[in-house]
Amino acid sequence: MKELQKEGFHPVIVDDLSEGHRKAVSVDSFHQISLADREALQEMFRKEPVDAVVHFAAHCYVGESMEDPLKYYRNNAANALNLLEASVEAGVRRFVFSSTCATYGDPVRLPLREDHPQKPVNVYGDTKLVVEGMLRALDRSHGFRSVILRYFNASGADPEGMIGEDHDPETHLIPLVLQVALGQREKIKIFGDDYDTPDGTCVRDYIHVVDLARAHVLALRHLADGGGSDAFNVGTGKGFSVSEVIEASRRVTGHPIPAEVDPRRPGDPAELVADSSRIQKTLGWEPRFTDAEEIIRTAWNWHRNHPDGYSD
Ligand code: UFG
Repeated sequence: MKELQKEGFHPVIVDDLSEGHRKAVSVDSFHQISLADREALQEMFRKEPVDAVVHFAAHCYVGESMEDPLKYYRNNAANALNLLEASVEAGVRRFVFSSTCATYGDPVRLPLREDHPQKPVNVYGDTKLVVEGMLRALDRSHGFRSVILRYFNASGADPEGMIGEDHDPETHLIPLVLQVALGQREKIKIFGDDYDTPDGTCVRDYIHVVDLARAHVLALRHLADGGGSDAFNVGTGKGFSVSEVIEASRRVTGHPIPAEVDPRRPGDPAELVADSSRIQKTLGWEPRFTDAEEIIRTAWNWHRNHPDGYSD
């Protein structure tokens, strides 16, 4: 939202606030609507002159998606279908979609390129792949152009300190590590140290939220300039292990951050790292944050100043 505003766009926000926070958005046009409510969506499109839709809303816990799959198909796939139908009806023909590296499943080749086979190993990834399929079909049937952004591990916080992560429950590595540094948790559990990686812990490609946001702005420009539908990885191409993230967090926070090794978490691939050359070449995107400490510093700044998240 901030990046769009900086670039002169006028974002209209639609959110049911089931997981988001009203305080995180400062816009004139805010609609508290669930994507399950088709009539409310149609009404919103009647009121607002919308050129393009950027669709972020989804449940995003891999573990929960395996325990309650229909909750994920309902929200991530069926409700996305509502949004697509309402968009088509309203004459919108440009769409940017938040997809995920989880659509690839277990990597057979690293770094992951966009043409890597998409065989998700969890329901979350599958629900995102279902929507990718809808978008491809709509392009053929209606000339509905879309950019699919396959996020790697979204991380960090607004460098100006206004927006940061506040999830309940929190499951992501960096916020959990920083909660230990804040004294809100005793220690961080390392889910497995026997992977086939240099230090035995899982390697991920942590992409800073500002770099991610920038990818959306460039995707919208690409579509506005008549660019065709495409899918892009959004990652730095650099992997950091769980142990490296904890070490970097110790340096940033000056806290010892006690850690203990726990069993592997089911469904975790050993390594997920992006080949992001396609988005670099096609959209001219480049990551600004490629260093773990730099990313963690922005997150630390947010968590330290908002120890209770948006309820502060
Ligand atoms: N981890 C720990 N301890 C923790 C939490 C996480 O060791 O307490 C490890 C995980 O096992 C993983 C790494 O830290 O190896 C990163 O875990 P996160 O939960 O922060 O992120 P994931 O890689 O599981 O998930 C991210 C996105 C998902 C997306 C997924 C694709 O958050 O939305 O990547 O694999 F689906």
